Amino acid sequence: MKGKYLGIDVGGSGIKGAIVDLKKGELITERFRVPTPKPSLPSALGEAFNEVVEHFQWNDVIGCGFPAIIKDGISYSASNIHKKWMGANVSKILGKASGCKVLVSNDADVAGLAEVHYGAGRNATGTILMITIGSGLGSGLFINGELVPNSELGHVYLKDMDIIAERYAADSARKNEGLSWEEWGLRFDKYLRHIEFLFSPDLFILGGGGSKKFDQFSHVLTCKTETVPAELKNHAGIIGAAYYANKKKSLILESKTL
Ligand code: BGC
Repeated sequence: MKGKYLGIDVGGSGIKGAIVDLKKGELITERFRVPTPKPSLPSALGEAFNEVVEHFQWNDVIGCGFPAIIKDGISYSASNIHKKWMGANVSKILGKASGCKVLVSNDADVAGLAEVHYGAGRNATGTILMITIGSGLGSGLFINGELVPNSELGHVYLKDMDIIAERYAADSARKNEGLSWEEWGLRFDKYLRHIEFLFSPDLFILGGGGSKKFDQFSHVLTCKTETVPAELKNHAGIIGAAYYANKKKSLILESKTL
């Protein structure tokens, strides 16, 4: 299908997919979700990924956002997924499981690509930071529209804390500790202010499941930087995965014709 890709967003709690029209930057099917298997071993996750692919009867290139540092299809971290993913070739494993070519990149990076091209960042310049709020805290760093991949800003340490920021301020921390959105928002504010100090961004875009509750915590945010929820809501990860597949496929074709 020309200009249409299956985008799949692999998260710590769910694997979500839909067919995306890249001209409009919109889903053209309903979103389909299966729970991320626990434990999320490569074999089990591959099967769940394939369930999404089969649901759409898809047999073409797939774009995939994956919750880890990804370089050339290989995972170099495993924070909210099984440790067996460390050093694994995600592209190959998911490709084998689905019988399709899978072009994979970090989940927050691709969500950011979607927002920068179709959503809240489309008219913005300078330094844009997409922060995704889910099982982890993901980050997508953009400088004048260009992605700086694998920024991993959920892994910074906050002052006087001996755990990484996402253990304190991701949505999973809110759920595990039974915090209200306001209580959690105060934590998230502390995190965002630290990131603001480190990067002096021009815009923060908040994505992931947590961003749907923006109205319930935005009043406790104290950053000077403009802070907005993702316009594509939690479809950003799917749309961005499809966008990435198209971009990467063009680059591969280009290098073959050189
Ligand atoms: C991972 C990131 C990912 C984020 C959101 C973090 O634990 O290290 O790679 O983007 O979670 O899923």
